[in-house]
Amino acid sequence: MTDLDEIFQRASTAFETSSSSTELDGHHRRFLGKKGEVQLLTRRLGEIPPDERPAFGRRVNEIKQELQAASEARRAELEAVELERRLAADAIDVTLPGRGRRRGGLHPSTRVLREMYRIFGDMGFQVYRTRDVVTDEENFEWLNMPPEHPARDMQDTFYTEDERVVLRTHTSAGQVQAMREYHPEPIRVILPGMCYRNEQITARSEIQFHQIEGLAVGRGITFADLKGTLSEFARRLFGRERKTRFRASYFPFTEPSAEMDVSCMLCDGAGCRMCKQTGWLEILGCGMVHPVVLRYGGYDPDDYSGFAWGMGPERVVILRYGIEDIRAFWSNDLRFLQQF
Ligand code: DAH
Repeated sequence: MTDLDEIFQRASTAFETSSSSTELDGHHRRFLGKKGEVQLLTRRLGEIPPDERPAFGRRVNEIKQELQAASEARRAELEAVELERRLAADAIDVTLPGRGRRRGGLHPSTRVLREMYRIFGDMGFQVYRTRDVVTDEENFEWLNMPPEHPARDMQDTFYTEDERVVLRTHTSAGQVQAMREYHPEPIRVILPGMCYRNEQITARSEIQFHQIEGLAVGRGITFADLKGTLSEFARRLFGRERKTRFRASYFPFTEPSAEMDVSCMLCDGAGCRMCKQTGWLEILGCGMVHPVVLRYGGYDPDDYSGFAWGMGPERVVILRYGIEDIRAFWSNDLRFLQQF
């Protein structure tokens, strides 16, 4: 009995003075474990006179329970302190200034292209993507420019080693592919993409630039549809108050052909430096799809008609922001790009 009390005293003190849960674990094992001091004592039951054994057994159980409770209580205290300490060590000082995050932005051409997708998308046109590398047929022949056609010279072409394969000089190169895929269904698509021309790079001309082509084919489509669609497009892009005008022009793949001007948004048509005092800005080339082109696409020109147009998103950026050097678009100068 004296031994029991002595163990109880030592264990209680050890638990209470443990300064960490690891230390407490050790004491717990030492006193209350399977081979702990309390357990070992019960093995000595045989040394006790039989009439004292029940009292001894009871005392052992009491001590076990009390020590168990003391150990648990101390563990709770220690864990609370340790959690507190961990939280304090990991704490974030929210008063420190944040680390600045440098954000990129969309290229101005991408922005304008997306605006255009949106406007034509609302009108029911789907984006139709074609390759940058095309055949001579796609870029020229199927657009009514057979070999030796003088209009081929208007677009200085990058040829591959195989001179029947070129970098598209305009997105019109995708027209016949779209027609062949849609035929005989009606078509309303826009074809965006990079175009390439073998030109001297100057402030006004580049060897690469975007174009966005439009194509509508169906039964009973007229020039009035072309005018309505493109005028509405111009108003949605440049503002409701913009006027449009169509001037007769020439393209081999349309007949009749036209160019569309928009009233200058800088001077509202009065005449200024940007519109060269004319009050008008040229925005795109367009026309009724030539019968030869329709036939290459699989459509019978007696049953079907269509209109097409082509324009350059960079030109829109140039007009909007008064950009004077087209080389800024692909030189990746951050000072230029960050302005948008
Ligand atoms: N492909 C012409 C160019 O690059 C632009 C063009 C004009 C496209 C008239 C058309 C069109 O679809 O009908 O200059």
